[in-house]
Amino acid sequence: MARFYLAPLVLSLFQAGHLLGQRLNGSTAVQMHPSLTWLQCALAGSCSVVNASITETLGMSWFSNPLGIDCWEDHAWNGEICPNAQACYDNCILHWNDDYAELYGITTSSDAVTMRFFTQSSVVNIGNSVLLLDPTSTQAAPTNKYQIFFPLNMELSFDVDVSQLPCGLASSLSFKEISADGGISEDPLNKAGAGWGTGNCDGRCSTDSQFIHGLVWTTLPNVGNTLGACCNEFRLWHGNAVSETMVAHPCSAPGLTTCTAASLGGQCATPSCDVTGCEFNPFREDAPAGFYGVGPTFALDTSRKFTVVTQFITNSNSSTGALTSIRRFYIQDGTTIPNPPPGIAGITPTDEFTDEHCAEQKVAFGEANVFANLGGLATLGSAFQRGMVLEMGIDEDRVDHMLWLDSTFPPGADPQKPGVRRGLCGTDTGVPADVETNDRGAQVVFSNIKFGPIGSTNGFEGTGIYASLQPKCMLTTLQQRWPNSTWATPVARARRSTAPWLHTFLQRWLAAINAAKAPR
Ligand SMILES: *[C@@H]1O[C@H](CO)[C@@H](O)[C@H](O)[C@H]1NC(C)=O
Ligand SMILES: *[C@@H]1O[C@H](CO)[C@@H](O)[C@H](O)[C@H]1NC(C)=O
Ligand SMILES: *[C@@H]1O[C@H](CO)[C@@H](O)[C@H](O)[C@H]1NC(C)=O
Ligand SMILES: *[C@@H]1O[C@H](CO)[C@@H](O)[C@H](O)[C@H]1NC(C)=O
Repeated sequence: MARFYLAPLVLSLFQAGHLLGQRLNGSTAVQMHPSLTWLQCALAGSCSVVNASITETLGMSWFSNPLGIDCWEDHAWNGEICPNAQACYDNCILHWNDDYAELYGITTSSDAVTMRFFTQSSVVNIGNSVLLLDPTSTQAAPTNKYQIFFPLNMELSFDVDVSQLPCGLASSLSFKEISADGGISEDPLNKAGAGWGTGNCDGRCSTDSQFIHGLVWTTLPNVGNTLGACCNEFRLWHGNAVSETMVAHPCSAPGLTTCTAASLGGQCATPSCDVTGCEFNPFREDAPAGFYGVGPTFALDTSRKFTVVTQFITNSNSSTGALTSIRRFYIQDGTTIPNPPPGIAGITPTDEFTDEHCAEQKVAFGEANVFANLGGLATLGSAFQRGMVLEMGIDEDRVDHMLWLDSTFPPGADPQKPGVRRGLCGTDTGVPADVETNDRGAQVVFSNIKFGPIGSTNGFEGTGIYASLQPKCMLTTLQQRWPNSTWATPVARARRSTAPWLHTFLQRWLAAINAAKAPR
């Protein structure tokens, strides 16, 4: 989520008059949302354009009293204006700014959205998160709605350009079980709704939002703790130019639930979701070293954009079945690049995200399988049946510095231990003070979003790419690209996978995909 700094400067923005002030409890303004098209595809392979738009999630909007004094500033409430939730609710005004480019560094152009990590206007904005709106709903708050996706037996395809995302920063694209109306119908005090980006929640039960359900909540001086907003989440994408992963966070209850934590940004004591989640990070699973990185020596060259396709397979090949597998492949330059299989002893070399894979991985990595305890993929599948909202974002990680994605994590752990290495970034990267100073040009571009039945969004041209790939020294290109970052020394680990084995596996995999693609 984004944060504003430099409160005194905010005043000049306020006085400039291009902000629309609204009470959080009664906003009826017609808002301008940046337009973004996406493609709804049908089995025959024909896709139709959806003229949609996006909104910043609540918490990004500037929140001040009528004089323009920040209610929320530098990760804390203003104790005078917001001594308690009710006062904050009554005293503060949400400001809408149609100029997403100026204030948030967000620009759209037909099917592409560019999100900058750092934006300096009259205020400084760090990080971004946007939600896709439903173009068939009314465009005026509070009655507009989020686009709801039903992913079972379907696939989502998107292009991503992470070439400007170094160590410590990450882009993300998620399906989250957020209410279509932003929670208005569940909470009479919330009059803002989806147009304002209310109702945000996630599978990590994040505790760093000022709002729950669209209501002022967390870390008020007199509350003494903070709330997390939990809901089922499948992060299809969390990545930078060095590492990438997908993460499943099932929860014990449908919709948004809350939990309490001792501190802002801290972990909830009893979260209703698997906050760690089960992930598929190819580097962490010791997949072939030439899979992902900057430059032409990699199967997936992160110096240029590529396509990410994710399929949600059910046990009945229908939208009412149980979610049993999530399949992934990538496309770059017309070549299909399969999800690389793990190379760790004890983990079946599969390209699929399944309950079995999670169980084996948790044993190999020595982690508790909370994912299984909460029902695994079937639980997530139930959320998919109720409907999911699409979120895209870019951010730093104030707590763990993104080391869990692209470095050695926990930082002091033995890098030889399976699951500890997640990428080549040094353990001192991703420090907020550093990235906010040194990586101000960081950005991500998401484009060409397509959704439809399995096999409807892309072809499967190209085969056997791993057969010709040799593990390369990944460090060289990364060092050239970001000379001022620190990098971990590659650790040699006995691999169980060998090239002939991998080749056979991929042949089998591609045959299966082609069979699945045949019209049913
Ligand atoms: C989407 O916008 C384009 C360009 O303005 C227009 O030609 C098309 O008819 C619109 N489609 C729908 C479904 O509204
Ligand atoms: C919103 O809050 C203000 C200030 O407390 C109050 O006067 C107003 O009646 C409230 N509006 C709604 C719609 O609840
Ligand atoms: C689902 O589709 C796959 C691929 O076409 C097929 O192998 C499998 O038997 C089907 N499962 C059911 C339950 O129909
Ligand atoms: C690396 O750091 C040096 C010294 O601070 C600076 O002059 C240079 O511009 C930096 N290079 C990049 C690519 O950030």
